[in-house]
Amino acid sequence: MCGIVGYIGPKEKKEILLDGLKELEYRGYDSAGIAIIEDKKLNHFKAVGKLENLANKTKDYHSSGFGVAIGHTRWATHGKPTELNAHPHLGKYSFVVHNGIIENYQSLKDKLQKNGVTFLSQTDTETIVHLFEYQCKQDQNAFESFKKTISELEGAYATLLITEVAPDTIFFAKNGSPMLIGFDGDDIYFASSDTPIIGKAKEVYYLEDGEYGYAKEGEVKLFDANGEKKFQKQSLSTDKASAQKDGYRFFMEKEIYEQSRVMSETMMGRINSNNIYFEELDSEFLNGIEAIKICACGTSYHSALASSYLFERLARIPCAVEIASEFRYKEPLLKQNTLFITISQSGETADTLEALKMAKRAGLKSLTVCNVDNSSIVRESDRAILTRAGIEKGVASTKAFATQTMVLWMLSVYMASLKGTISQDVLKGEIDAMIHTPKALIVNEGLHEKIHRLSKRYLHGHGFFFIGRDLFYPLALEGALKLKEISYLHAEGYPAGEMKHGPIALADSELFTIALMPRSLHYEKIKSNVEELSARDATILAISPMPFDLADDFIQTKYDSHPMLEFFEMMVITQILALEISIRLGNDVDMPRNLAKSVTVE
Ligand code: G6P
Repeated sequence: MCGIVGYIGPKEKKEILLDGLKELEYRGYDSAGIAIIEDKKLNHFKAVGKLENLANKTKDYHSSGFGVAIGHTRWATHGKPTELNAHPHLGKYSFVVHNGIIENYQSLKDKLQKNGVTFLSQTDTETIVHLFEYQCKQDQNAFESFKKTISELEGAYATLLITEVAPDTIFFAKNGSPMLIGFDGDDIYFASSDTPIIGKAKEVYYLEDGEYGYAKEGEVKLFDANGEKKFQKQSLSTDKASAQKDGYRFFMEKEIYEQSRVMSETMMGRINSNNIYFEELDSEFLNGIEAIKICACGTSYHSALASSYLFERLARIPCAVEIASEFRYKEPLLKQNTLFITISQSGETADTLEALKMAKRAGLKSLTVCNVDNSSIVRESDRAILTRAGIEKGVASTKAFATQTMVLWMLSVYMASLKGTISQDVLKGEIDAMIHTPKALIVNEGLHEKIHRLSKRYLHGHGFFFIGRDLFYPLALEGALKLKEISYLHAEGYPAGEMKHGPIALADSELFTIALMPRSLHYEKIKSNVEELSARDATILAISPMPFDLADDFIQTKYDSHPMLEFFEMMVITQILALEISIRLGNDVDMPRNLAKSVTVE
């Protein structure tokens, strides 16, 4: 996701920009660029792919003396990740970088084109720089032109602009996307989050929506709708790791809270009110597909398993899911016309990669659902759908799982509509539920506090069973995996209907059962499974929208109109439960013992 860095002062500007952009790398991006004005001369460089490419392009360039500089990492929304679409965008004598989306860019662009302006890119951002230069022709005053420019923008933006007309100035504006200004004496920095300027600036001002202004000669002039405004700087933390956590105790906690937002990114451009669309696929690719085989490991395997219910139920395609390390050595029978799907957060898991190679050798079409572009699995697959969760730092996967599951749900509905196995009404219902998913993922403070309080009762005992049926069985597996990964307590996920075939022998008050009891899918069935455990005195934490008297602890959920909304809401609850138990036990939540984020050995 896009990132911005800016600097005005006498220091070497290329290094400041590249260094700052590096700090934003974890957000994910597909191209980058910088623009510098010094000695009234404009220089700019752009490169697709990693920052190393930009660093290579600029290796013979060094800035010297006073100047202004802006840089950007772009995560494509309008237009493909190409050099032309990368920021900074050039007019004739000005450059702009921008995060967010200018919603009325098309009408602004049409107007400018009618006035003879030529556009080079497909981006919404380019409109800003042309609008500015268009205004400059009428105003002859750079700040007035900038002010008029931003008054015409609708949507979310954080933007920086530099221009030869005012070569000692950076213009800035913020509305809906984050931006801050850093200060160190006369040196002034800009960034879309504080990590790029930690260690450089001593003080900071976090811009509010609707604020804009300019920086010049060591001073910042700030304005809002009421005119010029005084502002209070605050001191800046010097601890990078804690700044990156944005005030959360652990990356995993931050990533749980991010799920609502990243889910919207996952859906962006792929969904509208009556259809689902994957730029990455075409109907020819899916033509003739009669079955699906999915291979994955760990959390990704659980997401795959959940999707198998959806592929069969909605798209009526047989779907088999296998753990990659098992698949590799079973001498699998692979039938032509089977679509081979791999799921991987990292794109580097050795077993999953090898399974993919085997499928390719057998002549199967391959598709991956992955969070890391250009990873080995993405490169090896015929097609890739990126989950867009942003970098996940906590070893225990949360937002990667959520976005994988969303992509697979969308894919199952997409294939169902291609095959005509669902009615228009069902299609609309699925899409409506998808659109509501970000809401179901919002972590409510009261809920977190409640889970924190009840977690103290779950620190001992002789084990946990997470139970569920149907889609909620893979979720039970995932809930149990989260708990064991970070608490080191024994936990198992089990199909609720299967408990009576063995595990119920363990039931007593020291056996903790986390029961996933959705209203919209087999409620009566799971209820009777939980009653059987309650009758044997197991300690039960029930998660359900329906009050359940036999539970020792009860967490009531809200979104019960669609199984997947229930799925995602319950997923967040199980993640927070694992987090809170782990914190109480004093464990390192982000780096649990013995585990690695990316498992590149078999
Ligand atoms: C490791 C990670 C898990 C992950 C699994 C599969 O074990 O700790 O969080 O689910 O690998 O990784 P992948 O990157 O392929 O999803």
